[in-house]
Amino acid sequence: MRKVMLTGDRPTGRLHVGHYVGSLRRRVELQNTGEFDDIFIMIADAQALTDNADNPEKVRSNIIEVALDYLACGLDPEKSTLFIQSQIPQLCELSFYYMNLVTVSRLQRNPTVKTEIKMRNFETSIPVGFFTYPISQAADITAFKATTVPVGEDQMPMIEQTKEIVHKFNSVYGDTLIDPKILLPENQACLRLPGIDGKAKMSKSLGNCIYLSEEPEEIKKKVFSMFTDPTHIRVEDPGKLEGNTVFTYLDAFCRPEYFAEFLPEYSDLDELKAHYQRGGLGDMKVKRFLNNVLQAELEPIRNRRKEFSKDIPAVYEMLKKGSEKAEAVAAQTLAEVKAAMKINYFDDTELIKAQSEQFAE
Ligand code: TRP
Repeated sequence: MRKVMLTGDRPTGRLHVGHYVGSLRRRVELQNTGEFDDIFIMIADAQALTDNADNPEKVRSNIIEVALDYLACGLDPEKSTLFIQSQIPQLCELSFYYMNLVTVSRLQRNPTVKTEIKMRNFETSIPVGFFTYPISQAADITAFKATTVPVGEDQMPMIEQTKEIVHKFNSVYGDTLIDPKILLPENQACLRLPGIDGKAKMSKSLGNCIYLSEEPEEIKKKVFSMFTDPTHIRVEDPGKLEGNTVFTYLDAFCRPEYFAEFLPEYSDLDELKAHYQRGGLGDMKVKRFLNNVLQAELEPIRNRRKEFSKDIPAVYEMLKKGSEKAEAVAAQTLAEVKAAMKINYFDDTELIKAQSEQFAE
């Protein structure tokens, strides 16, 4: 079977380090292994509009930001097809047919959608498009026959919904759609990187993000304002690692070689953690180390981003080419879906022949 990777992001802001460790870094690694026959990376503007209908300018202006973040992280248009969701009309058509296979009560049970409805105060006025976006996400995934979907933990309910649609479709209309697999980050810290305030999730509205395009001074300021262990007051006090954002970030970002480079008195992260728990290690020292680590990780990304941003027309041209390729693939799947559903009347010579005979009787 062909191996196809598909994933994407809503263009509602620049991407941050949570996106990076949660999925972007993995995508680039997977891209570079060469094990996939096809890779599709989608800027999900249509999905972003489901809860930003009154703010199209926000979505529009962030397409380029996300595209630049992608290129900066190492997604390579020679190896991966980068495209814009709204430019693929087949996705709407697939969604329309999949809607018949999903119940309202099933959508109401989706935990991620539930949380989002609360966060946006949508309780009494949920836009239908927003409510049904898990169905449109199933269209995104199946249109490209994706086998692997690398995403964050919060996307698990969408993949489950997709699998249910695939099974239902295949059992009603015959084997047509491919069953996708979710690929979660293997490291616990990357699964749900907290914001710098230690809150559950990094989010633009909470103002607790470190962006991939962040300048060095800003990164430093944010690292030094990070939430640690509030009971770790004096250096001698034993410190806790659970819920300690600085250590969570080290778990997500630290590479063994950074100790030799920035903190040679420790041999690895375990040793640093043990000292912190024992007492005698101050927050400032750990923060200084994390700052060095993050600076080292983000500098090449920021520099590449600046390079790519010098030629914006080229970025749009790349997205246009990607969207054309993506549309051709989605059109093929849609044709197969319509044939399976027997709504391909004009290609169905059997149907026309049988009915001519029937009416001749
Ligand atoms: N829901 C994803 C997000 O909020 C974006 C997305 C849309 C997506 N369609 C997708 C991700 C298909 C993976 C596969 O970031």
